[in-house]
Amino acid sequence: MEPSTAIAPDDLVQRHARPGMSLVAVLHAIQDDVGFVPPATVAPLARAMNLSRAEVHGVITYYHHFRQQPAAPVTVQLCRAEACRSMGTEALAKHIESRTGCQFDAHKHGNGNGNGSHEHGAVGLESVYCLGQCALSPAMMINGELHAKVTPQKFDMLLAAAMKQVEQPA
Ligand code: FES
Repeated sequence: MEPSTAIAPDDLVQRHARPGMSLVAVLHAIQDDVGFVPPATVAPLARAMNLSRAEVHGVITYYHHFRQQPAAPVTVQLCRAEACRSMGTEALAKHIESRTGCQFDAHKHGNGNGNGSHEHGAVGLESVYCLGQCALSPAMMINGELHAKVTPQKFDMLLAAAMKQVEQPA
């Protein structure tokens, strides 16, 4: 089943699409409001912005920032850009995937098959491209909190702390 919100897709689009706004700005507003861009908003967005559904879908999938399902309780955003890559981000990504049993960017595909999707789990892995911490790479965010010079060991500690917070919210 497609992820949805309590707000009808048409109402969500009406709430955020204003004349003169770019599609990217509207998508940001929708995701800021409900946490993701529900797939059912593609058609009303296309109508409101005078675009084809394929164009809207293309923009949503092109930008790594936009997700089409709610974020996992623990969302790890790992920088995969150049400076971080040169400091071992890809090896770190492999470690994170094997540690969590999830795959990076499953949220973009929304396959919901339990193999990489966070739909049935607590962790979601997302690639991002530069967090402004290039001198302190590899960098990542966990639930919006920035972490620099992350090693596999440091990640394991950060993950354990984040999981604990989810299990026992403050
Ligand atoms: S390249 Fe990773 S923080 Fe800039």
